[in-house]
Amino acid sequence: MHLLKVDDLSHEFLGNIFDKAGEYKYRRHHSRALWNELHGRLHNQVLISDFFEPSTRTRFSFEAAMAYMGGEVIGSENAAEFSSYKKGESLYDNFRVISGYGDIVVGRFLREGEAEIAANASLIPVINGGDGKGEHPTQALIDLFSVIEKFPNPQNLRITFVGDNLHSRTVNSLARLLVRFPCVREMTFLGPEDQNFTQAETDDLYDRSGGYNHNIHIWHRAREFNAKQMAQTDVLYMTRSQVERHRTIPGTTVLDPTRPTGPDFYLTPELADSLPDNAIILHPLPRNAELPATIDSNPRAYYFEQAWNGLFIRMALLEELCIGKN
Ligand code: NCD
Repeated sequence: MHLLKVDDLSHEFLGNIFDKAGEYKYRRHHSRALWNELHGRLHNQVLISDFFEPSTRTRFSFEAAMAYMGGEVIGSENAAEFSSYKKGESLYDNFRVISGYGDIVVGRFLREGEAEIAANASLIPVINGGDGKGEHPTQALIDLFSVIEKFPNPQNLRITFVGDNLHSRTVNSLARLLVRFPCVREMTFLGPEDQNFTQAETDDLYDRSGGYNHNIHIWHRAREFNAKQMAQTDVLYMTRSQVERHRTIPGTTVLDPTRPTGPDFYLTPELADSLPDNAIILHPLPRNAELPATIDSNPRAYYFEQAWNGLFIRMALLEELCIGKN
């Protein structure tokens, strides 16, 4: 099985991953012996990590996950420069060849749709670690797992996405995953007009929701990122401006990379304090000015825990996908 987009995740598969990830997290924090016991699980399996775009969390946590499960990792952290892609080899040929050297591959791709090309070429399961502004399904798993940790029996959840929603693959994947659940009541997308969802994206979300009654709102003005909106938010999901994608999308304005996510779309301590006490602040990271370090001490800040959850989710995924294919 390939994991290219959230649509590839059945509810049953999702449940298995969350159960396992929860168990591994428990083991990690409670018993060295139980944790060490995981080491034989993927003995003799090889993970290939083939990254055409920069990565910290996705690559490190996949590689750590494989190491803790007793498998091996080979690959390139900069395949665009250090593989024969640089000599003009196609992505198809790259994946065709490397898939003969391992058991599972995680790739990160420059352009939307390239994960699909890789999967068509590959002899082994391909995990999409992000393809352009397309999807990032394993991040959506981490995000949803983090939400459920804080809201174990979610009801009437209200999620506010703030930032460059339009070019963010993590927002795409998470929103597409969330609309499948009836417990999600409201999704609000707040961001500068040239970086926010439009009617087309919300129509697509309604189409995917299978008839559940979600309320989806889009706001473009910075003054709508206010205390009132925060008071009606259980999960605040921030993202940085995806400046590298603005440059590569024809017809899109080139934005200043030093600029935060729009002139006024950054979280202040006052806005963070307007969230309900049990709300959480998520961010896939890396962050820029939209999420200042002063927020880190806010009890609702959950983004480092969210990043660390990546290890457990990816251990569970590797196990499920490696063993599932045998
Ligand atoms: C994100 C990505 O690469 O899409 N990072 C991640 O994997 N956690 C977010 C981003 O780059 O802004």
